[in-house]
Amino acid sequence: MGSNGVESTSKLAVVIMAAGKGTRLKSRRPKVLHEVGGKPLLAHVIAAAAQVAAPEDIYAVIGYQAENVRAAVESSGIRFIEQAEQRGTGHAIQCARPAIAGYENILVLSGDAPLIQAKTLSALATFHQAQGAAMTLTSAEPDEPTGYGRVIYAGQDSPKVLAIIEQKMLTPEQLALREVNMGLYAFKTAPLLANLDKLTTDNPHGELYLTDMAKVLHAAGERVVAFRAPDPDELLGANTIEEMMTLDASLRLAKARRLMAAGVTIFRPETCVIDADVEVAADTVIEPFVQLLGRTRVGSDCRIRSYTVVENCTLGNNVQVLQSCVLADSTVADGARIGPFARFRPGCEIGEDVHIGNFVEVKKTKLRKGAKAGHLTYLGDAEVGEGTNIGAGVITCNYDGIQKHATRIGDNVFVGSDSTLVAPVTVEDGAYIGAGSCITKDVPSGSLAVARAHQINKDGWVDARRAPQKAKEEPPAK
Ligand code: UD1
Ligand code: CA
Repeated sequence: MGSNGVESTSKLAVVIMAAGKGTRLKSRRPKVLHEVGGKPLLAHVIAAAAQVAAPEDIYAVIGYQAENVRAAVESSGIRFIEQAEQRGTGHAIQCARPAIAGYENILVLSGDAPLIQAKTLSALATFHQAQGAAMTLTSAEPDEPTGYGRVIYAGQDSPKVLAIIEQKMLTPEQLALREVNMGLYAFKTAPLLANLDKLTTDNPHGELYLTDMAKVLHAAGERVVAFRAPDPDELLGANTIEEMMTLDASLRLAKARRLMAAGVTIFRPETCVIDADVEVAADTVIEPFVQLLGRTRVGSDCRIRSYTVVENCTLGNNVQVLQSCVLADSTVADGARIGPFARFRPGCEIGEDVHIGNFVEVKKTKLRKGAKAGHLTYLGDAEVGEGTNIGAGVITCNYDGIQKHATRIGDNVFVGSDSTLVAPVTVEDGAYIGAGSCITKDVPSGSLAVARAHQINKDGWVDARRAPQKAKEEPPAK
């Protein structure tokens, strides 16, 4: 198994059923595109499948908003099967018929059960082969079996499954059955395909139920068995937004636990939102209410303080991010100190030991080693050299109303407070800019630029202005 380049025809395929709308969610978005743990339900299922089969052996059956579903998970390299009309889970597999014909066995997964783990898929495949079964369903005994199909055995001590009965068709006695079908199956392809057309629609939904293959295959003299899920929670689906948020919370907590087990300190982990693919190295400390999203990577010995949101960023080692920073699509090198209240818009490269202070917005800008912008600054489309100091309130005027222009600031430059740099403009190494300057021309290396009105002091002006007024208010003493 896996992507070892071996010819796949005699091997295992994985079919993920993901064509349904998810009517119970009351949402226009397809159910499998709703997100938990920072990515769509279907992406979680694909990630688990990809650990037991190569992407070209994984097929997603899509239908409702097929193009949106395909676009969302296409980068995984899996294949797609269209089920134009959703006539049930059995019909979904009928649509997959040409794709699966070349495989000896298939695993069938639901695109709406994102907690499934790869080790459970391998265990199911192994059990199925060892049993020599035509169909192996996965079962569990959840606290609340209502809503699930129930497993009916051929006899009291028989391992053979006679049928799966859906909730709406249970007899009063069958309602007491606690062992449920979790919607994850292994099939031997030949008997499945030979009997697949025997499914009928005589059920309350008028659908072709894949679950009915248990009855059909058993009647055809094939072996149908159940595999007990080691962890029933893994197979939990999400039929309502509330159920989905419960899954989200448990995925997030599991992620935080894995990071903590790997040496990351997370205070109040239940308040943090850390996406599935985020990486954090040991000895980093994450304070309450931090969000680490997307493909964010954080090195070791960092501290991320409360209310900071980091999305798709790479942070080196020893980086301090103080409270309430919003960082997106940027890189931060070792030893940098950021915030509080700093914002990185996409495309920033923050060098080693750089200091970005409070209320500083940086966009598509590179700051080299040791540069500082401590307070109330906007740097856009700029380069700032090593050791350069950007004073409080400095602004790069990068936009002329039509186009964006670049600002280049060399090494060891001093930009005085409240200066505006009207791009395109270059300030060469070692230059000084007087506070309050509006810089429109390049500044040569080592020179001082001052671009502001001269100051005038008028001696005694205040008293002179106030004298007539005062005379009116306080008439001279008699
Ligand atoms: C199904 C099982 C039920 C089991 C439960 C476990 C059937 C008939 N019932 O019910 O025994 O206890 O899972 O969660 O299978 N889909 C398609 N095409 C369709 C219909 C559905 O691709 O025409 C997809 C859906 O998008 C979904 C998956 O199949 O991802 C399961 O369908 P769903 O309607 O959620 O089945 P359940 O009611 O959960
Ligand atoms: Ca379901």
